[in-house]
Amino acid sequence: MDLHSMDTYIKSLIKEAGHRIRNSFLVDITIETKSDANDLVTNIDKEIEQFFISRIRRDFPGHRILGEEGFGDTFEDLDGVVWMLDPIDGTMNFVHQKRNFAISLGIYENGIGKLGYIYDVVNDDLYHGIQGGGAYYNDERLRPLFDTSIEESIVGINATWITPNRYIDHEATIRLVQHVRGTRSYGSAALELAYVASGRMDAYISMRLSPWDIAGGKVIAEEVGAVTSNFKGEPANLMKQDTFIVANPSIHHRILSEYIRLK
Ligand code: IPD
Ligand code: CA
Ligand code: CA
Ligand code: CA
Repeated sequence: MDLHSMDTYIKSLIKEAGHRIRNSFLVDITIETKSDANDLVTNIDKEIEQFFISRIRRDFPGHRILGEEGFGDTFEDLDGVVWMLDPIDGTMNFVHQKRNFAISLGIYENGIGKLGYIYDVVNDDLYHGIQGGGAYYNDERLRPLFDTSIEESIVGINATWITPNRYIDHEATIRLVQHVRGTRSYGSAALELAYVASGRMDAYISMRLSPWDIAGGKVIAEEVGAVTSNFKGEPANLMKQDTFIVANPSIHHRILSEYIRLK
């Protein structure tokens, strides 16, 4: 795989998809629900996934595609080249705010992340990473992350995890919120990964993410030295939903060992 020519191709494909999404603001969209009343999907999520798939099938016929909306392939393994796509990450924000959502795309070869993209469509900001070639915010190369401490950190966390819940001990998570400098919740896992990679936040934790939520951001974040794993400290599994943390390397272990207690 020639990463540099693929990179050029993918950037133009993502920009074209972003243009289509921005144009959708001018017309009525159809909103449906999936697993529950707050799990939204629109015709635009589906159309953008289909747009990517038709181009990838035409131009890279040997590659496979994993897309959130299910128009791609089904998977038993990650052999060969796999495009992992979330056409709109942050659909709730797309519907309610018309901002704070992103296109997320990761290209994996035999399970190894090669290229990663997160496109903040409304701000026209593209984050990308090339395995071994660095990570970028538009044309600016992102610096390796500096060491930090829990006390000086901004952590991305959803408020749900400080209320009683059946997955984690919320008292431990409350202590995390009390000890850090600040918390944020943007509602797009992909953007939150991009913010950790660009040093705007120091960690982001989520109880349940899918491969397409993290595939692009993992490549970008790891290029600047951020650590990704599930809550057990194991590498993210790109075949299934799991818990997820991305963090500055100096606080990753401490967050997991002192502040996240799975029930
Ligand atoms: C969701 C967003 C959200 C995260 C959810 C994801 P979607 O993706 O990333 O921030 O908390 O777990 O499912 O459905 O908007 O693509
Ligand atoms: Ca969704
Ligand atoms: Ca998503
Ligand atoms: Ca989505």
